[in-house]
Amino acid sequence: MTITLNGRPRTIQTGERLIDLIIRCEIEVPHVCYHPQLGPIQTCDTCMVEVDGKLTRACGITVAEDMNVVTSSPRADAAQREAFDRILGNHLLYCTVCDNNNGNCTVHNTTKLLRVEHQEIPYKPKPYEVDMSNPFYRYDPDQCILCGRCVQACQTLEVNETLTINWEDPHPRVLWDGGAPIGESSCVSCGHCVTVCPCNALMEKSMLGEAGYMTALPKPALDGMIDVVKGIEPEMGYGAILQISEVESHMRESRTRKTKTVCTYCGVGCSFDVWTKDRHILKVEPAEGAANGVSTCIKGKFGWGHVNSQDRLTMPLIREGDTFRQASWDEALDLVAHRFAEIKAATGPDSLAFISSSKCTNEESYLMQKLARAVIGTNNMDNCSRYCQAPATTGLFRTVGYGGDSGSISDMEKAGLVLIVGSNTAESHPVIATRVKRAHKMHGQKLIVADLRENEMAERADVFFHPRPGTDLIWLSAVTRYIFDNGLADQAFIDQWVNRAAEYQKSLDMFTLEMASERCGLPIETLTTVAHMIAEAKGVCVLWAMGVTQHSMGSDTSTAISNLLLATGNYMKPGTGAYPLRGHNNVQGASDHGAMPNYFPGYQEVADPAIRSKFEKAWSVSLPPKPGLDNHMMIEAIHEGKLKAMYVFGEEMSLVDSNANYVSDALSKLDFFVMQEMLFSETCRFADVILPASPSLEKEGTFTSTERRIQRLYQVLEPLGESRPDWIIIQDIANRLGAGWKYEHPSQIYEEIAALTPLMAGVTYERLEGYRTLQWPVAADGSDQPLLYTKEFNFPDGKATFYPVPWSEPSDQQDAEYDLHLNNGRLLEHFHEGNMTYLTDGIREKTPSTFVEVSPELAGERGIRTGSWVQLTSRYGKVRAQAVITTRVRGKELYMPMNSTDEPVNRLTSSHTDKVTHTPAYKETSVRLRVLGEIGDDPLPPTNSRHGHPTPQTGVEVERKWKRQDYHQPGDQLVQIQTR
Ligand code: SF4
Ligand code: SF4
Ligand code: SF4
Ligand code: FES
Repeated sequence: MTITLNGRPRTIQTGERLIDLIIRCEIEVPHVCYHPQLGPIQTCDTCMVEVDGKLTRACGITVAEDMNVVTSSPRADAAQREAFDRILGNHLLYCTVCDNNNGNCTVHNTTKLLRVEHQEIPYKPKPYEVDMSNPFYRYDPDQCILCGRCVQACQTLEVNETLTINWEDPHPRVLWDGGAPIGESSCVSCGHCVTVCPCNALMEKSMLGEAGYMTALPKPALDGMIDVVKGIEPEMGYGAILQISEVESHMRESRTRKTKTVCTYCGVGCSFDVWTKDRHILKVEPAEGAANGVSTCIKGKFGWGHVNSQDRLTMPLIREGDTFRQASWDEALDLVAHRFAEIKAATGPDSLAFISSSKCTNEESYLMQKLARAVIGTNNMDNCSRYCQAPATTGLFRTVGYGGDSGSISDMEKAGLVLIVGSNTAESHPVIATRVKRAHKMHGQKLIVADLRENEMAERADVFFHPRPGTDLIWLSAVTRYIFDNGLADQAFIDQWVNRAAEYQKSLDMFTLEMASERCGLPIETLTTVAHMIAEAKGVCVLWAMGVTQHSMGSDTSTAISNLLLATGNYMKPGTGAYPLRGHNNVQGASDHGAMPNYFPGYQEVADPAIRSKFEKAWSVSLPPKPGLDNHMMIEAIHEGKLKAMYVFGEEMSLVDSNANYVSDALSKLDFFVMQEMLFSETCRFADVILPASPSLEKEGTFTSTERRIQRLYQVLEPLGESRPDWIIIQDIANRLGAGWKYEHPSQIYEEIAALTPLMAGVTYERLEGYRTLQWPVAADGSDQPLLYTKEFNFPDGKATFYPVPWSEPSDQQDAEYDLHLNNGRLLEHFHEGNMTYLTDGIREKTPSTFVEVSPELAGERGIRTGSWVQLTSRYGKVRAQAVITTRVRGKELYMPMNSTDEPVNRLTSSHTDKVTHTPAYKETSVRLRVLGEIGDDPLPPTNSRHGHPTPQTGVEVERKWKRQDYHQPGDQLVQIQTR
């Protein structure tokens, strides 16, 4: 199809928005409110063009065959100028002393584009104060041009529904919860609004007074300068004034560094530029990340206080009695190498064990497992996927062949139905949640949530149900059986693609609706509704997380999910598949790169002689043939006296492993314990040597996100003090033990990985340059697979396999003494126990402590109020916390978030594990509760977003602006004059 654009024929793409075509053709038309990731907002009117002779907003229409578009006719030009003049009536151009004068300010750039010299509509301040009440950003109504990008982002992309504009007011402005101070609203500080604001109305506080050369002036001096600018504008015009500000903006380029990195927190894999001035983090600027676009959550956007914290370890430490003393690197590394060699010689290589960090890079995990296997000679190697993800991986290995998400986040957006099981997605994987919330709110996607808590996703769901703890496998199997029994299965898909169908169907015999209803405590109608919704949906994605995996049946329940997807043909197509949501930023990558007791990188079995011999040849060593100990077995082996030494990096083992008292006890029994950490963690207390490591911003490497997406991170800052990147430290230790490694850059490590790992054969740093990414498997020619299983499943015959799974009783059940069920998990603001996130003041302010959620029923029965101190005692330990009374939990079920190092929930959890993977059954914990009699304030302070009152609407609702008495479409009056 073609259209005529400014007299020239242009080829158009079906459904293309006219403004996108104009941008694609590099024709200069202003477009202040338009943002491709937000879609048309239509508030600014600056993109007026003539379409078939009629003034039209270019962002508001899609192109159609034979359209005739003129972008710079006198009418279009006049309309664009009139529209922009109105914008300048809302915004004072003081660019030279503005922290947003960084070359990317849309208002500044549009003033320049239109060569505006003077404005017709004078600037008028609005009768409101600047709002500084959020710890991370401010809103200045006087600079707000009412473009509504922030509202659109909050309502339709983040879908937190906090922002609106009061279009009917004489002085419209952006409102939080309809008019609350930002700091007391439902705002979750995700930063979407700040990121998309086209000017300085919404700005990161970390930019204020820092970005410009003259922006740190005291306010009276700044006001004076602004007055001078206003005074000379009538005479000089904006052109000359803008030239001065552009000189200042260019000067900033020499000292503001913009470096791409990947978020260090969760497995979504958000990437962004970090703006720095020396060591000061000016801001985090997401724009084109493959997983996130402009999206972030509070942690990725604002949670970087750990990087420059006073608490950072900057020198090696060596234990002396009950304290530590500072040491040189040489002394510390010599000691580590000497003791490792000594212990290996005395009690054998298997008396040492190694734990890799899921926060660190792929290259670092690779080196750690190479150190364990090739230098020490043991497969005692693991990472924290043992604590969370291993069961999901097993479920997928059993049924479809690869242990990773079967598609991409974009598939979750495309699905007709999303089923979330045991995942608090809005808090644990916030940017993935935005995509599901958006699809549900804006595009009619259906949402089913099965969870113990009525979390945000549950509140939004079309169907939310609450199975009894530990019974997910039952309802999943019963729903699958019902689908088979009622002819709702995708028989053609099964016949072509799935083995063991008859055997599997037989295994479902026991899972009748009646049995499931009774065991799970669910109405039969709920189960049949869910079955029909799944069977009839156009594409189903299942998202699951720790609520499934951290059970004694974690692997089997994950398998049941995959069985259900196979039965309904929900693999091999866009908008379908299995999505275990990976917790840490690089928990997927740590396992992919061999930090496991039974696998070399790329899930190549250590027990396979051919594979082993490949690695032996490459590394010029002989390698141990037997799989090693996993995390859980390591703790047992220490207690049994078999394991003498450990080397752990970037893992708060003594708090995040289950049954924390038992784990701490084990760590204290080690003969020699090396911790490599950025901060003095709880686990460091047990160490003999502590090596100071660098956070993600101080090193290069790659991370692999939940959607198998490999992304590069670039070094933003130099390592603080004498801290060093983990890969350098691991290499130094290996070389002191005679390894002779010569890696000078992580890219060289990746070259070795790619050469030895078919799954990553085509991964190179060049192919990952900048924001480019690859989703494994990556063939040697660099082609990757955003959607797995497009041609076949990962089994020798190319077919998937149904895998029958039985049900068994959960562990650590309630009895008369331990009468309450305790659930646990993450909180939006903190990552896990909060070691890193507590070092960001604003996060600490919003969520200063942990708490325990108590249902109104239980609170009434036991006389508990919000703020009451209670003691929880399990069969394994006790903690104290304040109560929060909430309907998120029901009856005799409690929930405690993990964000505490003082009262960690894992003092209560047990050593029971998933039968297959040894993942702790964290979610199977029974406790008794004692009310302690003291009452304090609500542990969630008034500034916590949970106290807010969102104001949902479909977007910015520009139609309400158009209805204002004082509104007319720009250019209208000109048309009227011309017509007269
Ligand atoms: S939740 Fe808060 S930070 Fe996020 S877009 Fe809405 S108003 Fe902005
Ligand atoms: S605060 Fe919102 S409405 Fe105001 S200029 Fe920024 S994005 Fe536009
Ligand atoms: S914590 Fe997760 S969702 Fe939040 S910015 Fe980082 S990667 Fe994205
Ligand atoms: S860009 Fe089209 S109305 Fe704002």
